Amino acid sequence: MPTRTALSGRLLYAQSGGVTAVINATAAGVIEAARAKGVQVYAARNGILGALREELIDTTKETRTAVAALRHTPGGAFGSCRYKLKSLEANRAEYERLIEVFRAHDIRWFLYNGGNDSADTALKISQLGKAMDYDIRCIGVPKTVDNDLAVTDCCPGFGSVAKYTAVSTLEASLDVASMANTSTKVFILEVMGRHAGWIAAAAGLAGEGADAPPHIILFPERVFDEQAFLAKVKATVERVGWCTVVASEGIRNAEGQFLAEAGTRDAFGHSQLGGVAPVLAALVKEKLGYKYHWALPDYLQRSARHLASKTDAEQAYAVGQAAVDYALAGMNAVMPVIVRSSDAPYRWKVEPAALHKIANREKKMPGSFLTRDGFGITAAARRYLAPLIQGEAHPPHGRDGLPMYGRLKNTSVTKKLPTFEH
Ligand code: F6P
Repeated sequence: MPTRTALSGRLLYAQSGGVTAVINATAAGVIEAARAKGVQVYAARNGILGALREELIDTTKETRTAVAALRHTPGGAFGSCRYKLKSLEANRAEYERLIEVFRAHDIRWFLYNGGNDSADTALKISQLGKAMDYDIRCIGVPKTVDNDLAVTDCCPGFGSVAKYTAVSTLEASLDVASMANTSTKVFILEVMGRHAGWIAAAAGLAGEGADAPPHIILFPERVFDEQAFLAKVKATVERVGWCTVVASEGIRNAEGQFLAEAGTRDAFGHSQLGGVAPVLAALVKEKLGYKYHWALPDYLQRSARHLASKTDAEQAYAVGQAAVDYALAGMNAVMPVIVRSSDAPYRWKVEPAALHKIANREKKMPGSFLTRDGFGITAAARRYLAPLIQGEAHPPHGRDGLPMYGRLKNTSVTKKLPTFEH
């Protein structure tokens, strides 16, 4: 593969997987860093699909103000996707098409912003240059509310969902405490996170000590034990007067079945999860007779930019900038990751890590972060989690009382190639 010395060519950026409250801050980091170096950025519409379909967006048409507004705008400004690229051997046509699109638009750097599945896609693309004799550098850019990427200390997107979860647990607990004497005794909050309990764990930041909420956290890292759960709900209501439960969507019974599975699967074969809170609520009502309320914030938790963590927003921006630096420095098959050097004061920096150490791996909560009964978090978990929700990064609000979220023009680049069937 020839090595280029001058910074010629374009950079393509794409968002992938479940979006977050701060993924657009990463986009802002990418675009602003590339602009500063005089490099033109295209964005793919709906992740890798945009690259395959040659649906590209010219970000040079966006004003500086519009790009800056991405820093406080949730969702994925260019659209995202869940789409699995097969291996080069299994579907060479898709890879040839990618190279064809890259070549047609002089794309020399590809930045793929996503979780562990997307890191796998980025890794495959990073190997394309050699296999297909085209000079393309690929950098994975971290993002996921699930916080389950290997190597990095934390994932951009997580700090904000963690803050939303801790704050919501605290606020709803104040509500149920007020009502418990004559009405609701149990409140159940269901959170995302798939097979890792990081988001559920963040709820533990709402309070400390046996009587403080959340009284019970249900982690996917522990088998759901119905008897132990009900006994703890009962004991808490009898002692405290009420009980707050936070349940991860990914909890399973002893047979390994999810308590709540919607019955659908995405392109990566992941079951769609959601609905564990009503299952638990029905159990509490049937076995203990307590009045309950439950909440499933679902997309609210990962889009709650109004309650974002400043730390998270800063890290999301920083990985975007670093990704551009790495790409333009000629790196390939790496991801900018967050490295923590101190808990208090919290100190972090961004460093490159090899994509092959991250792709397709899932980082779960370590045993040392869970209390012995499996229903709470330890001091070590608090030390890890606490800095990630620090600081507020409120979006500006308009006179109508609503946040002033940005909206891009998303001007399409003229297609040069025939349509590709995939
Ligand atoms: O990938 C992050 C995540 O938010 C998971 O926590 C959740 O289970 C999943 O995405 C939902 O995915 P989708 O939006 O594709 O249904």
